[in-house]
Amino acid sequence: MFSVLNIKIETTDPLKKKTEMLCGFVLEKSEKILGLNNINTKIAFSIRQSLHDMNGETGKITVIPTNNKTPAKRILLAGIGKKEKINNDTIRFVSGKIAQKARELKLKEFSIITPPTSLIEPISAVSQITEGCKMALYKFEKFKSKKESSIINISIFSPKSNKISKAIKNSEIVSDGVIFTKSIANLPPNECNPTTLATLAKIIAKNSKMKCVVFSKNELKKRRFGGIIAVGQGSKNEPKLIILEHLAGTRREKPIVLVGKAVTFDTGGISLKPGEKMDEMKFDKCGGCTVLGIMKVISELKLPINVVGIIPSVENMPGGDSYRPGDIIKLYNGKTAEILNTDAEGRLILADAMAFAEKTYSPKAIIDFATLTGACIVALGTNIAAIISNNERLKQKIIESSKRTTEEVWELPLNEDYMDMIKSDVADMKNIGIGRAAGTITAAAFLRNAIEDTPWVHIDIAGVAWTQTATKSKPYNPKGATGFGVRLILDYLQEGKL
Ligand code: BES
Ligand code: MN
Ligand code: ZN
Repeated sequence: MFSVLNIKIETTDPLKKKTEMLCGFVLEKSEKILGLNNINTKIAFSIRQSLHDMNGETGKITVIPTNNKTPAKRILLAGIGKKEKINNDTIRFVSGKIAQKARELKLKEFSIITPPTSLIEPISAVSQITEGCKMALYKFEKFKSKKESSIINISIFSPKSNKISKAIKNSEIVSDGVIFTKSIANLPPNECNPTTLATLAKIIAKNSKMKCVVFSKNELKKRRFGGIIAVGQGSKNEPKLIILEHLAGTRREKPIVLVGKAVTFDTGGISLKPGEKMDEMKFDKCGGCTVLGIMKVISELKLPINVVGIIPSVENMPGGDSYRPGDIIKLYNGKTAEILNTDAEGRLILADAMAFAEKTYSPKAIIDFATLTGACIVALGTNIAAIISNNERLKQKIIESSKRTTEEVWELPLNEDYMDMIKSDVADMKNIGIGRAAGTITAAAFLRNAIEDTPWVHIDIAGVAWTQTATKSKPYNPKGATGFGVRLILDYLQEGKL
């Protein structure tokens, strides 16, 4: 399904390395390749000319054939822009471009020289190179008769230490988690329904020490998951609630619960969506796929913490059994909701899952991911996710992780005025706000009502969960699902203890 990369560290002189392509980073308006001092005089002229022409602009790539004048068959110059502007994402972004170039040239092997320590810390450098290359080479080709995938060996020139080897291993596992999330989120709706996701969760659990519990329709009815049952009742593909437990921390420690919306296809139900772009609603399961990917990585890294993943999964279809506008349903926490639009389904299944999480686990924190509102795309576009929280400390931690991983988030407010907007005349709340106003916030207000005072962060990934065109996207996010949130939360769980 994707190219396999073997990554190893090299400490020798890069100019002596026999390689298909020796890749180096170049600063803007610079005359040299970072990390290379004495370039072979036989090719120095053509390199100098290319350096001058490309100008070191971020993401610009030039490949120079060496005509056997050096052990490397080709030299690749990769621009990384101005020194002051370089951050982790620059290296990740440009490494992705390099890897894509190598694939285009059908290379089975290439080498990269890390920038000097003065510019970026070696551990960060190798981590970003690993992530950038791995993620950029993923391609969704499960349903293509002819597949492109191959094995590529990468040598990274860098200082060698245990910490660096560990960082590479860690980045490989995290990137594989992102790729896993992308590949299940990209599955078409006829190949991926709630039962498929439950089966995948069981496979992940079996391969590690996690416990997996799946509630089927009868169990959900018996336990009064009114939101999940209502949304799921219009489809032949029955709803599921998927629970994955990774309890590797101390017994006293309360878990962090991750909740992910997994609507395997969102037609809108009786409040049917327009036909245009409806196919994209296969991505309405992205929140759940992110949680599955995170749980997979947590178990593979054997993180010594307690984390529970909860994924409510349904297909939102119109039909004789569907729930309708006007219905009043009772959610898991006992509150009633008036349905005014069956297309506002995500909040109903999430509210059930969050209430269940709070009651069952008394968690330290709840973090939910959902492609919840079109309004989020109107507000923030397709590069930044919306976050809404009831807890300053938890929110700050997520923002710090966001800065480190460049999975960008922006906070929206939630106060009583917004809570008032979802009050219903006939039930405790209604499932839409007032017209289109503050659509992302009124959706979050509904979720806020599902829990008491557990620290909570809601992440609306409607804009960032998939890319429409590969052109405007980052090289490490080719067209399709992005796996947004996997790197963000793994950073938080590894670095930013609550
Ligand atoms: N899954 C959609 C939100 C969505 C739409 C995400 C387009 C990404 C792209 C969600 O279930 C939905 O339909 N929300 C409605 C809510 C409205 C009826 C209050 C929306 O945003 O239009
Ligand atoms: Mn919807
Ligand atoms: Zn939806």
